[in-house]
Amino acid sequence: MYGLVNRALEELIIEKYGEEKWAETRKKARVEVEAFISNEPYPDDVTYHLVGAAHDILGFRVSDLMHEFGVRWMTKTAQENFGALLRAAGASLKEFLLNLPQFHAKVQLIYPKLRPPEFKCSDVGEDSLRLHYFSYRPGLVDFVAGLLDGLGEVYGALVTVTLLEAKAKGADHDVFEVKWISRAKSP
Ligand code: HEM
Repeated sequence: MYGLVNRALEELIIEKYGEEKWAETRKKARVEVEAFISNEPYPDDVTYHLVGAAHDILGFRVSDLMHEFGVRWMTKTAQENFGALLRAAGASLKEFLLNLPQFHAKVQLIYPKLRPPEFKCSDVGEDSLRLHYFSYRPGLVDFVAGLLDGLGEVYGALVTVTLLEAKAKGADHDVFEVKWISRAKSP
């Protein structure tokens, strides 16, 4: 994954636990890179090893870290670095979600070697929809749920995310039900 993902993970760990714990995490993950370059792709293993090492050293559940990482990605990393891209993708949470299947194609213009996830929407209602998530990468459903909760914060909506079907349990792909109560606010 691109360096900006690993950098965001680094920032999250430093913010919560300090530089020293980050240095320990990096060492345990056997990551030799001193500083990640945002627009350079790194093997996915680097990210997975960092998450595993953070779990070993800091003692929290991987699912909690991934969820928090998703929330932070939306409310901080994306806001600070890609505000215009986000605003262009929707004036409301519903609009954003309906545009999500095309979103990473725009990100790909900035990061050509991106290997993005795929999303599809179905069962679209006034204040809910089903989000279908496809990826060749395993173990990222809590990250997706965190991203969706983070999007709720960005749009001032109260979001409930339920995993209806899980690829890890044999389903073809992951399916989330996303429900929201909007308080009409733009990002
Ligand atoms: C400005 C906003 C965003 C940017 C710049 C962005 C960029 C990226 C980048 C660089 C990666 C790593 C993939 C790679 O390097 O090959 C990634 C992965 C991912 N993105 Fe986004 N993204 C954004 C918003 C979102 C949103 C809104 C969602 C869903 C709600 C999302 C879902 C994911 C997921 C689930 C992955 C993990 C990779 C996978 O599932 O295979 N992203 N994104």
